[in-house]
Order: sequence, then structure tokens, then C-alpha cells
Amino acid sequence: MKNTVSTFKKAKENKQKLTMLTAYDYSTAKLFDDAGVDSILVGDSLGNVILGYEDTLSVTMEDMIHHGVAVSRGAKNALVVVDMPFMSYQTSVYDAVYNAGRIMKEGRAGAVKLEGGAVVCPQIKAITECGIPVVGHLGLTPQSVNAFGGYKVQGRDDDAAERLIDDAHKVEEAGAFAVVLECVPARLAETITNELSIPTIGIGAGKGCDGQVLVYQDMLGMFSDYTPKFVKRFANVGETIKEAVRLYIKEVSDGLFPDDEHSY
Ligand code: KIV
Repeated sequence: MKNTVSTFKKAKENKQKLTMLTAYDYSTAKLFDDAGVDSILVGDSLGNVILGYEDTLSVTMEDMIHHGVAVSRGAKNALVVVDMPFMSYQTSVYDAVYNAGRIMKEGRAGAVKLEGGAVVCPQIKAITECGIPVVGHLGLTPQSVNAFGGYKVQGRDDDAAERLIDDAHKVEEAGAFAVVLECVPARLAETITNELSIPTIGIGAGKGCDGQVLVYQDMLGMFSDYTPKFVKRFANVGETIKEAVRLYIKEVSDGLFPDDEHSY
């Protein structure tokens, strides 16, 4: 059955953990959907893991739509959430609604995600009023890496923690149906989770969140440029790929592939 915003609402009510993974193409989305993940995030992390940029700032609307529509074709049941890229919503409420609309129409998303607290609440409100479900994103918001001075845990001191709690409430009041908490101390994330009636999806935010999200290349050992502390490697697919490629090279070089079985 297709997961929707109602799936997220029910999961929170029934205290069932939600699972979300990133994906950026049709085949991977199909694998994750078959495996039963609740939601697939077409994250602007594609800037890092697919396009090889050092941050997410150069990711465009065209990138998000191109990958979003591919993932949407592969996800039968998972709710597909597509990130709004840097400067597609910060500039004005008009831009935010226009670009969220493009992501839904052209990218065939089920929801959009955007980063920020009180400052982007007018955008969240306007987008949701158009009937487009919104996921918020608080804590370490990678599009603000230059303002943060690096990728750092957020909400560590009392003032910052208060601001985060306040932002979380404002994002909920503005109409978001879920909120990602990234790189936030576990106790703070748990407090936010208990105070909100919408689900929190954690990444580096401890086990108290209502759900978890990871970048799939991280959890499958396919990306080694850097590995944050919160990443757990559930498999070493990167090594499996390298072994298979080495074997392919050897068999082609030795004249063993293609053999009769794989020839016409
Ligand atoms: O872009 C992304 O993959 C994300 C996750 C890290 C939550 O926003």
C-alpha cells in the first residue's frame, strides 16, 4: 500500500518507528521499496554522493526533478520526499511555492523537504496551503554550512537548544507533517520528539526520534570521502563492487568472458 502523510501520522500515534533512506535513481529506489522502507528521500546530498561536489549548494532544481522523477518511478509503496535545493525557496514565498509545485508536477514527488526554522515558516505555510506536504529540516542544515562554519553538531548550549525547540514548534505550526533533525544531541532530539505531534526523523540525533534516515551510500559502505560519527555501515557494498569489477577485468583480460554461455 502506498505510504502517505497519513502513514507518518499513524506511526507517530502508534509509536511505530519510521524508516527513510535516500535514493537518487530508479533501480535503487526499486530495491529499497521492495525491501519495505517507509519513505525514500531524494536528498540534495546527491550533490555530494552523485555529483561529487563538496557541499550541496550547487544542486539545481533541474537536478532534483531529474532524480526525483526517476525515484518516483521506482517507488511503488514508499513515500517519495524530494529536497528543495539551495535558493529555490529562501528567496521568497513566491519562489518557494513555484518551485515546490515544479517538484510535485515534474518530479512526481509525494512531498518536499526544506531546511530552516522560523525564517522559512511563511514558505512552509504557503506550500502546505497549496496542498503540497512539507517535511522540515532542523539542526545541522547543510545548505547553511558556510554560516555554521563547517558541519558541526547543533543545539549544544542552552540558548541554541531553546532556539531549536522553538523552531521545531514553529515548523509544526506552519504545517509541516514531519521534521528531520540532523546532528542534534540525543537528549534534545528526544525532548523535541516528545513535544511535537508530528514525527521527527533523526540523522545523528539518537534513538529517541520517531524515525531514522541515512544516506544510502554511507550505510552501504559506498562512499568514503568522509564518514560522520552517526553512520553505521550495514554492509560493505563498495568492496563487493570493487571485487566484482576486478574479476570482470581479469576475465576479459584472460579471454574468459564472454564465454559460449554468454554469446549468441
Ligand atoms: O540531503 C539529504 O540526504 C538529507 C538527509 C541527510 C536528511 O537531507
